[in-house]
Amino acid sequence: MFSLILQSLWFIAPAYIANASPVLLKGKRPLDFGRRLGKNRLLGDGKTWEGTFGGIAIGTLFGLAQIYAQDYLPANLNLVKLNLTLVLLLSAGALIGDVGGSFIKRRFGIPRGQHFPLFDQLTFLIAALIISSPAYRPEISMIILLFIMTPVVHWATNNVAYILKLKKHPW
Ligand code: CTP
Ligand code: MG
Repeated sequence: MFSLILQSLWFIAPAYIANASPVLLKGKRPLDFGRRLGKNRLLGDGKTWEGTFGGIAIGTLFGLAQIYAQDYLPANLNLVKLNLTLVLLLSAGALIGDVGGSFIKRRFGIPRGQHFPLFDQLTFLIAALIISSPAYRPEISMIILLFIMTPVVHWATNNVAYILKLKKHPW
């Protein structure tokens, strides 16, 4: 079980890093240019150009560090062998899912920053898994574990970000 947790975290790390880094970038320019669809914003001020592309870049850079490190890690850990395509698709997928999630939240009339439990934590994971699937398809046990672990990790990291005053709300 421990090794499956480690293997899952190793594989999904670029997506986690890509999803978590926009909050640090303090982007200003909204991805939707302030435009509305109906009475609500298309995406809202929480999705910026800086955050989206910065997040993809930081996730990919982290993945490149993993690719470099993997030759030095013990082979008996059975870690997924990462490559540039995979880490790029995981990072881009995470941000596409995050932006798509905000699009859906706004269509339901949920304001920017308001909590949408599980949805907020899982859209980026679902998109990252689907978009990276041409490069790598994890086994079902890993997928199940990722769906269980991600809300827990997301909740924990958001609380840390909230305590550090990086985020206005602990979600
Ligand atoms: N952020 C960004 N660009 C992104 C994602 C996030 O600039 N693509 C930044 C924004 O400052 C955002 C913060 O990271 O407020 C936290 O991200 P998130 O919780 O995803 O956004 P919310 O503000 O909660 O907005 P939404 O309700 O649309 O999810
Ligand atoms: Mg949020």
